[in-house]
Amino acid sequence: MTQTSVIESLRSKALAALEKADTAAGLTDFQVEWLGRKGKLTVFLKSLSNLPMEDKKVTGKRANEIKTEIETALLEKQKILRQKELESDLKSQQLDLYLPGDPYPVGREHPISQVINELVRIFYGMGFINVGGPEMESEFYNFEALNIPANHPARDMQDTFYFNLANNQLPLPQMEAERSREEPVLLRTHTSPVQVRIMQSYPPPIAVVVPGRVYRHEATDATHLSVFHQLEGLLVDEGVSFADLKGSLERFAREFFGPQVRTRFRPSYFPFTEPSAEMDISCLLCDGSGCRVCKQSGWLEMMGAGLVNPRVFEYVKVDTEKYSGFAFGMGIERLAMFKYGVNDLRTFYENDVRFLEQF
Ligand code: DAH
Repeated sequence: MTQTSVIESLRSKALAALEKADTAAGLTDFQVEWLGRKGKLTVFLKSLSNLPMEDKKVTGKRANEIKTEIETALLEKQKILRQKELESDLKSQQLDLYLPGDPYPVGREHPISQVINELVRIFYGMGFINVGGPEMESEFYNFEALNIPANHPARDMQDTFYFNLANNQLPLPQMEAERSREEPVLLRTHTSPVQVRIMQSYPPPIAVVVPGRVYRHEATDATHLSVFHQLEGLLVDEGVSFADLKGSLERFAREFFGPQVRTRFRPSYFPFTEPSAEMDISCLLCDGSGCRVCKQSGWLEMMGAGLVNPRVFEYVKVDTEKYSGFAFGMGIERLAMFKYGVNDLRTFYENDVRFLEQF
């Protein structure tokens, strides 16, 4: 066999092998088998160096042509194969830009926070600013300065959470003064102590609301929680009368519950107000005609209120000749229950998204 026929047969064998290879791996194998360092074409080309000069020229030229031809064919085939792979990938992983995305749940304010914000907004509209105070209190602020006597049942361990602190080591800086008096420390049972703190710190005129958490040692049921929220209000100025109290609270009730709501004030007793009253609103369910919710009375009890007792003013050194004031306090969860028609307070704190989503 002449060198020429050997090389021509190598050519056709290589091309036939290339024809058969139709995967990326097949092409790599082909490349190794024919064009690699020990590949059939490479070896043949090397063997040409032993030929006489004349033959080398002719056969070598042809051999190089064939090598280039096969390399080109290989490249071409690799290109086609890549294109095919790309096409099938595109087909199998089609990207539908019109598919809806994964829904991302958006949170919202807790209903109690919503009610607090609404209350603060309504009173802000009447000139009251929003202030806060510590939840850890001394007996002085929670009881004594509010004219709640030492033998008052609210001071009982059964109703109030007291701290049992060695040497009364209080963690809060604002309680330095109380520490020096070595007084019992407790979780505030109402937001009223903030009245005292505000009057101690600022001269009249004062118009504040105090939303905040309060604590009572209480068995939990549908209408009682041991941790809940109150909104306290305090207004001190010259010439404040019961009419101002009534007007402010009536306006609040209409804004919060709706313009159809009627209010009534009943005489009551709180040690820190004199006179004291309870404000009721006409039943939101039956509008006053009597139903199960209002226990047939037509009214719902909303809050305690009254004119600031001069004894409280004396504790905080407000001139009782010059100033008078009113105060009120309401349970925020209770307001939310009536506003939203919820019949069990506990549902607000069970963290059940199905319940919370409704607000
Ligand atoms: N602090 C009272 C309570 O927790 C509520 C209250 C009644 C607050 C009358 C007041 C008020 O400011 O004037 O039951």
